[in-house]
Amino acid sequence: MVDHESVTKAVVPAAGLGTRFLPATKATPKEMLPIVDKPAIQYVVEEAVGAGLNDVLLITGRGKRPIEDHFDRAYELEEALRAKDDPERLAAVRESSELANVHYVRQGEPKGLGHAVHCARQHVGDEPFAVLLGDDLIDGRDPLLKRMIEVRAQFGGSVVALMEVEPEQVSLYGCAAIEPTDEDDVVRVTNLVEKPVPGEAPSRWIIIGRYVCDPAVFDVLEKTPPGRGGEIQLTDALMTLAQRDRSQGGPVHGVLFRGRRYDTGNKLDYLRTVVQFAADRPDLAAEFLPWLREFTAKHDES
Ligand code: G1P
Repeated sequence: MVDHESVTKAVVPAAGLGTRFLPATKATPKEMLPIVDKPAIQYVVEEAVGAGLNDVLLITGRGKRPIEDHFDRAYELEEALRAKDDPERLAAVRESSELANVHYVRQGEPKGLGHAVHCARQHVGDEPFAVLLGDDLIDGRDPLLKRMIEVRAQFGGSVVALMEVEPEQVSLYGCAAIEPTDEDDVVRVTNLVEKPVPGEAPSRWIIIGRYVCDPAVFDVLEKTPPGRGGEIQLTDALMTLAQRDRSQGGPVHGVLFRGRRYDTGNKLDYLRTVVQFAADRPDLAAEFLPWLREFTAKHDES
């Protein structure tokens, strides 16, 4: 029997053009940019699997074939590493192909995040599902998605991950008006605004790229007109669901995240993320950190 209540599927939109990283992303998907020695998208798939979601649907588009190759077997490479007797690298190469059941669907036109999520409808069916945006990485030590799935089980409806940011940052994100619940880290979402103009933000709590959506979101997305930037916005569809009760696919709750999040969506944050990941790597930190200290000290002098 199909269980329509538990969350087993993750949807990862990966159709964006990655224009902020040109020319690096001219022929390489931005999702494949390395964070130390692993492409960013692998961390996202690992996070989904860590939360118990082994079925991962990637929404791709033109030029995204390297992502499919990354999660597939690479026989020639594996043979070469076996011949060289390099089990460590062989394991690293095989890991990404054994991680999850990865599926693909293409978003023909770039009509926005809401449209990308709607492309998952047939694969997801009538079950709640998670959405993970690749520009945000969540530290594996802070199990956000697991908590969001628990909150969905408790309250029904949909769940977004919220983080408090400085007022001048709010207009870069979807922003939520919230009310407390009996749970310390859970709020009821009463309003959502995609990238509010300064002065019109309902709070400083913004949506980071993690969602658990009720399947009712698909019908709503179909009727959601283009919003900010002329694109169909997931935020707008969730706003509609936030006003509904449980029998109609609502409500929307937020999990207040106070853990470690890394942004890879722009150059400066990407650089910060790479440095932080390197500093946490036992095989690199002992040499990398003293070098970094010396480098910055010298740089300050000059
Ligand atoms: C998207 C969402 C936005 C959310 C953000 C998180 O925006 O539309 O609501 O806050 O991701 O990273 P994007 O960054 O794709 O413009």
